[in-house]
Amino acid sequence: MKIICRCEDITENDIVRAIREGYNDMESLKRVTGFGTGPCQGKGCVLAVMKILARETNKNTAELRPITARTPLDPVYMGVFVVDRKH
Ligand code: FES
Repeated sequence: MKIICRCEDITENDIVRAIREGYNDMESLKRVTGFGTGPCQGKGCVLAVMKILARETNKNTAELRPITARTPLDPVYMGVFVVDRKH
């Protein structure tokens, strides 16, 4: 069992099964499996899922549409990302 999305505990088998059920684009795969919806918002799994989808549909990853990026639910002040180097 190969974990593809560590945040949401989605395996390669989950992805392949969904593709074979007809969910053969990134957005519908995301909706049906939940990959990319964890705390990292897909940074750890989107590329791996794209490669699986490309392999299973005999396409190049460049032919696939990426998932839609969502903005944070609550606004985040830019100061949150500033590193205080004095400490
Ligand atoms: S690894 Fe998939 S959302 Fe984080």
